Amino acid sequence: MDKTNIKNEVRKHYAEIARERSCGCAPSCCDKEDTITTLVDYGKRGEDVAEANLGLGCGIPTEHAGIKQGDTVLDLGSGAGVDVFLASKTVGPKGRVIGVDMTQEMIDRARVNAVKGGYTNVEFRLGDIESLPLEDATVDVAISNCVINLAPDKHRVFMELFRVLKIGGHFTVSDIVTFGKVPENIRKDVEMWAGCIAGALDQQEYLKIIKETGFKNIRIIDAKNFSYPKGNTDYGFSSVTVEGYK
Ligand SMILES: C[S@@+](CC[C@H](N)C(=O)[O-])C[C@H]1O[C@@H](n2cnc3c(N)ncnc32)[C@H](O)[C@@H]1O
Repeated sequence: MDKTNIKNEVRKHYAEIARERSCGCAPSCCDKEDTITTLVDYGKRGEDVAEANLGLGCGIPTEHAGIKQGDTVLDLGSGAGVDVFLASKTVGPKGRVIGVDMTQEMIDRARVNAVKGGYTNVEFRLGDIESLPLEDATVDVAISNCVINLAPDKHRVFMELFRVLKIGGHFTVSDIVTFGKVPENIRKDVEMWAGCIAGALDQQEYLKIIKETGFKNIRIIDAKNFSYPKGNTDYGFSSVTVEGYK
């Protein structure tokens, strides 16, 4: 599939969600039983960031990321800002959190949420995670929630992540990976790409890319399997939370 076309379709899909709060990362849109994001429950943590939670995540990276006061945190594909706002509370007034998203409508919505919530240590930048709008070695912790699977070039994403992290910095990302052989008709479906299914890499390949980029101490912190279509056993999908250090 053409990479530019994929990005345009993904952008269109998430622009619509930002405008209407329709369903997002799900193989069969709005089918609650199949929705990836039913795997995620922010619980009490989510109450005061509810407006920013559009139900698009597949994990809770902030829970495992070891973010500290004063850190500079980067969120790849920040959507309406849910994880940025959670991280903002932890880094405190001396830290800051930068969200990057390629969809203008998401950036607009996140900025409105930031003003409404009184978050003064956050910033939202329009940009592509394959070419991050950040200086080299400026980030302590990078997080991401159900986004990297949407990028056509995962190598570039992890290379960019490596570039912007400080030495000793780390990432904690939640994402979708696959196991078994996912059929070509699913792989080639652009709607399923936007739904976080078709672009997901095999778990071993995903970890190999991270290792080849130069990250150390790579570890899967959390994993939840699900099948699509329902009941299939030959292949499947997993929502994983992975960390790695520069
Ligand atoms: C499934 S949503 C997740 C949003 C957010 N992380 C959350 O958990 O609510 C995916 C987001 O990633 C953004 N996105 C997809 N591909 C991107 C890319 N290549 N660069 C930057 N943002 C991207 C979309 O615009 C969308 O806001």
